[in-house]
Amino acid sequence: MIDLRSDTVTRPTQPMWDAMYDAPVGDDVYGEDPGINALEANISKLFGKEAGVFVPSGTMGNQLGVKVHTEPADEVIIDEKAHIYNSEGAAAGLISGIQLRPLKSSRGVMDPDAVRAAIREQNDWDPRTRLVAVENTSNFGGGACYPLETLRDIFDITREHNLAMHLDGARIWNAAVATGTRLHEYGSVCDTISVCFSKGLGAPVGSMLLGSKGEMKKARRFRKLLGGGMRQAGMLAAAAAYAVEHHMEGLRQDHQRAKTFAQAIADSSFFNIRHEDVETNIVLFKVTGAPVSRTLQWFSERGIAMIPFGEQTIRATFHLEVNDEDLNSVLDAVSTYKL
Ligand SMILES: Cc1ncc(COP(=O)(O)O)c(C=O)c1O
Repeated sequence: MIDLRSDTVTRPTQPMWDAMYDAPVGDDVYGEDPGINALEANISKLFGKEAGVFVPSGTMGNQLGVKVHTEPADEVIIDEKAHIYNSEGAAAGLISGIQLRPLKSSRGVMDPDAVRAAIREQNDWDPRTRLVAVENTSNFGGGACYPLETLRDIFDITREHNLAMHLDGARIWNAAVATGTRLHEYGSVCDTISVCFSKGLGAPVGSMLLGSKGEMKKARRFRKLLGGGMRQAGMLAAAAAYAVEHHMEGLRQDHQRAKTFAQAIADSSFFNIRHEDVETNIVLFKVTGAPVSRTLQWFSERGIAMIPFGEQTIRATFHLEVNDEDLNSVLDAVSTYKL
């Protein structure tokens, strides 16, 4: 099966398994896992942040990010396509007791003027705006990247209004490779950033929240409260460290394959796509003339898995387990598609 459902489906490569096998371990709840300590130090340095907290998932990284900045009954400005808003089970309401204020966006990229306009008056009846959360790349936006300038403009607005800014950087690595932006530049335009090792980089498990020492002290406490203290998890840190060191460059190829696929989809009269929108490893396209479920079934019978992604839309994601031979099989299937 050529699995294009998500970049989370990747399994460790043999050298990654070797690195995991050799990892020294200790109790991370006591702060004694050498691999996790080194990973937190190295990744925070890459992003120019003071400290980091290793967490089991991107969802926990985001939720701790919301938690450290807010009090119950605060409001968080977010784009309507954001993972925090759509795919984290309303956790921000449950865990932080906050209200999300979703804004319309262009492929998941918010307009700074819209953010500014959404900041509430300070009085006794408006919710208190406290945090702006952005997502880069935007998953539901089809892997779209924020221009660094736009992030900086939004960050400046948060400074003017004494708000915090959290960046969901589950695929920040893809954004960095696609736009040539340095990781520390992304770190300079937010207070906290959550990054995932388990998406395109190919680690089996693991994400990290990065920010100031004070914010990370608070995040560690809530990580434990939520059951995210992982004890001897150094083998996961070893996989993450291996992924960052060896798999970033491969993202470039994933992006190229995604673009080639998008071009083939654009050439078919059965699908709709603005293929020039494809910037990274995610391709969203619309199906015409057949229900999405039948189209997915047709591809599945030819050994290709993709997932439905909203009305008449399919998502295909390129990652390190999809090579050129796989891509050619997928292109052949697209060129013969007919329902
Ligand atoms: C943009 C974004 N943020 C956060 C997450 C959550 O990551 P996890 O599945 O590790 O909780 C995902 C997952 O796909 C995502 O796409």
